[in-house]
Amino acid sequence: MKLSVNVDHIASLRQARRASEPEPVLAALLAEQAGAAGVTVHLRGDSRHINERDVRLLRETVKTKLTVEMAATPEMKKAALSVHPDVVCLVPEKSAELTTTGGLDVLTHRQALKPHVQALAKAGIRVSIFVDPALPQIRAIADLGVPQIEIHTGIYAEAGSSREREKAMEEIRAAATAAARLGLEVTGGHGLDYHNVGPIVAIPEMTELSIGFSIIARAAIAGMDRAVRDMVALLNHRRARP
Ligand code: PXP
Repeated sequence: MKLSVNVDHIASLRQARRASEPEPVLAALLAEQAGAAGVTVHLRGDSRHINERDVRLLRETVKTKLTVEMAATPEMKKAALSVHPDVVCLVPEKSAELTTTGGLDVLTHRQALKPHVQALAKAGIRVSIFVDPALPQIRAIADLGVPQIEIHTGIYAEAGSSREREKAMEEIRAAATAAARLGLEVTGGHGLDYHNVGPIVAIPEMTELSIGFSIIARAAIAGMDRAVRDMVALLNHRRARP
């Protein structure tokens, strides 16, 4: 099972102060050094965290695999064709949402998606679609000639009861099996953390997980001790030798 680390929230922290740090490119390189098989970012229409400059720098520096999640809009197609990530994962996007809230409705939008997907594929970009674990949606993706899906694991991750969680898991398992039978590469993501990732890893068809928030949250806490020690040492040093 491969891990693609989503570094959006390093950029969220930077944008909270409109500052120049923390640098998502540096976080991406550290993720690769630590064993990540890829780096993922979401280029949103409002560039609220990751912006085009970040994606360009990541394109130049990421040595493993760069996946860019984006909406299927003309502006994003232009950005993708210009930056040329390894994978573009098409996601639905609503400006008011805190994060992506569901899979792309391919059944409703297939006519509009067709030329979009073809343009990306023609440029040699591997296309993936973020999808709810629903079989008609997955069949529609296979019909579009898209080689890869990312199954939305958020409903499982946010389930309020063990019954809901088990139902969501069943749907994800069935979706993964059906997609693999249709020849699709199956990946997953959204809301996965250190506590809930186990059953998803056990799905044999799943080849890669995209995980962001929980890793960045842990990195902030795991790095706190070191960051405070560094500042205390600096203050003491300055007092001793002003
Ligand atoms: N996959 C998609 C399509 C997403 O939109 C996101 C969030 O940007 C993720 C995976 C990663 O989710 P999380 O940050 O909850 O791990």
